[in-house]
Amino acid sequence: MKKITKAVFPVAGMGSRFLPATKASPKEMMPVVDKPLIQYAVEEAVAAGITDMVFITGRNKRAIEDHFDKAYEIESELEARGKRDLLKLVQETVPDHINCIYIRQAEPLGLGHAVLCAAPVIGDEPFAVLLADDLIDADPPVLRQMVDVFEQQACSLLGVQNVPPSDTGSYGIVSTEPGPGGLPNITAIVEKPVPEKAPSNLAVIGRYVLTPRIFHHLRKIQAGAGGEIQLTDAIAALIAYESVLAFPFHGIRYDCGSKLGYLKATIAFGRKHPEVGRAFTEYLASLNVGGRA
Ligand code: G1P
Repeated sequence: MKKITKAVFPVAGMGSRFLPATKASPKEMMPVVDKPLIQYAVEEAVAAGITDMVFITGRNKRAIEDHFDKAYEIESELEARGKRDLLKLVQETVPDHINCIYIRQAEPLGLGHAVLCAAPVIGDEPFAVLLADDLIDADPPVLRQMVDVFEQQACSLLGVQNVPPSDTGSYGIVSTEPGPGGLPNITAIVEKPVPEKAPSNLAVIGRYVLTPRIFHHLRKIQAGAGGEIQLTDAIAALIAYESVLAFPFHGIRYDCGSKLGYLKATIAFGRKHPEVGRAFTEYLASLNVGGRA
């Protein structure tokens, strides 16, 4: 099995849950403390040894391309003012050996369709998919954990976590049986089932390692839940041919696609931020809302 060197970032979504903040700027550019969500996801991919970042973008997403590009004006300004630390921060947004590739998804036809848009760049290789909305605080980072498992198991892997039974309608939900390497083998997967129809409360979180056969199924499936081409449906077809394992990762996941999750992430990352963490923790303690470091 080939090594995983490419990651897909579907970033064409509208971000309607954060309007009006996302009216003119992408939701993936919303910062948690001082770094946009998409940068956390890219850093996680870099830490997993990935070198080719494939962004599936859409209208109003230019800021993402600009973010990972050189920022000549800012750099020369910081240089002139002798602000070395800030200059370093700006220059290190993406390391030199990383390639950023942008593909436009002309219509919002669903997550599965977005992933399929990456097929010409991915070719016949296994690859990762990261949903930047799912910010995961983990050491080692979750995708690193998954790539390490992939090197042993050589099959598709989905990051999973238990969710409250009432929340199944927001996720891809899997049923499993014991599988290789102590990991659950996925026997069925369904997109956003109502709690009464959910096979379990084990939910797919936005980290995937997929074999290239997924493209074959993405090309064949019809629109599913919400009238969209669902990645979940293509995975459901894939499990008839290849094993797909669930990966119950170690780490805390923040659903930054929701306001509450985003606020929780801001508190968690704010409390351990090297510059403001201590003062912020003291502030939270003074509010009596639990400021433990
Ligand atoms: C997508 C997937 C879903 C998965 C979720 C994880 O849904 O379709 O299967 O569980 O991401 O965050 P979305 O949140 O984009 O509606």
